[in-house]
Amino acid sequence: MNGPPEPFKIKMIEHVGMPDQIRRSEAIREAGYNTFLLRSEDVYIDLLTDSGTSAMSDYQWSGLLLGDEAYAGARNFYNLEKAIQDVLGYKYIVPTHQGRGAEHLMYSYLVKSGQLVPRNMYFTTSKLHVELPGGKMVDVIIDEAHDPENLHLFKGNIDFKKLQAFIDEYGVEKIAFVNVEMDVNMAGGQPVSMQNLRDLREFCNDYNLKIIYDATRSSENAYFIRERERGYENTPIIDILREMMSYSDGCIYSSKKDCLVNIGGFLATSDKDIFEHCRNMVVVYEGLHTYGGMAGRDMEAVARGLKESTSYEYLKYRINQVRYLGDLLMKAGVPIVKPTGGHGVFINALKFLPHLERKQWPAQTLAAAIYEDSGVRSMERGAVSKGRDKETGENIFPALELVRLTIPRRVYTNTHMEYTAESVIRLYEKRDSIRGLKMVYEPEYLRFFQSRFEVLESSKSYLET
Ligand code: F0G
Repeated sequence: MNGPPEPFKIKMIEHVGMPDQIRRSEAIREAGYNTFLLRSEDVYIDLLTDSGTSAMSDYQWSGLLLGDEAYAGARNFYNLEKAIQDVLGYKYIVPTHQGRGAEHLMYSYLVKSGQLVPRNMYFTTSKLHVELPGGKMVDVIIDEAHDPENLHLFKGNIDFKKLQAFIDEYGVEKIAFVNVEMDVNMAGGQPVSMQNLRDLREFCNDYNLKIIYDATRSSENAYFIRERERGYENTPIIDILREMMSYSDGCIYSSKKDCLVNIGGFLATSDKDIFEHCRNMVVVYEGLHTYGGMAGRDMEAVARGLKESTSYEYLKYRINQVRYLGDLLMKAGVPIVKPTGGHGVFINALKFLPHLERKQWPAQTLAAAIYEDSGVRSMERGAVSKGRDKETGENIFPALELVRLTIPRRVYTNTHMEYTAESVIRLYEKRDSIRGLKMVYEPEYLRFFQSRFEVLESSKSYLET
């Protein structure tokens, strides 16, 4: 067995179609070789994201019927507040429609023009919400995180020397706050250790600096702490989570991942100033402070899902399914980010397609090729996602140029993992024949969502068959 069997049974299914090769070639061309622009009905296995794509439990579904759709003071808000207080330990919460709504409220309050936000690698929407009020996100993750081959068990850790260097160079008043992401998405779903979080608290206390987490995948991070960090082997996940959060001043959270729901987000803090400001601004941008853009029923599903996400049995199954796909690819020699992360398997496109130049967008190319080969939808996580330097306007080419095979929670079986691996391995065997793309349309913000590409050299397909 490749991990523990599923701790659930399936009682409802959704039929999916399998478009043939001709339709897939047509669909990806129509989508400008951007997997975000494909129609879902043209996709067989959807590994675009783990965001909002989870299967809810019967307990969550039954909660939907208990939605209190009052404009103000819905009972589900209080259930959500209590769940967050119990699981994460913060005092105050502000609900938002999804994670970026929380980023907007929190970061526009804490970031003043010209300030820096050190973070353990950027995330796309987080970086933008730091830049919009005039700030700049700077990277303070350990070097190991930028090396796909490095087997460090906590590649999400903060490098204190890098953080110190920013403080020394710019002065502590130029630092808006320190931002720590759990289970770092762009690094391949790599966790932060408890020791690192504890040390960061001490470090920041000396400078009176606030620490705000992006706690989006904190349950999965907590699982890795239990598996990998001495002293936590038998600690309940909920206790690990509460200790993690106790070292911060607040967090933003996209519920669409670990909370096993299709929509939702929140910010949480025990800091009264942050809370009062965000509670006030939420009514401007999201909705009243007891719903923040969510329906009552959605808040109920988040409250229930957050609790379910602290089940060790569930997390063990979840992380092992992702690892299973990673192992299948590694066995065939496909270069991926190691160790396999929490929410997906990240293929190293620079090593997969070494004959392509960076400006031929290797990861974008590979994501399109995987779709065309098998109907499996993945996502680029490299230079297209990173965007341009705000000051020079030049493309930034990060060390990691990755294709993310993101695994929705409780949705696919290991046979789906095997089908996906077979497609990637097939392409790896004929990788020399894969030709690159050129970008022909680029929107100003978060370009990866909507940019369009064409195949280099005129030909019907970039897969030479
Ligand atoms: N922070 C992290 C670490 C994320 O991964 C995301 C979303 C957000 C914030 C924003 O949350 O989507 O609810 O507004 N990540 C998705 C992904 C989109 O596919 O990785 P949101």
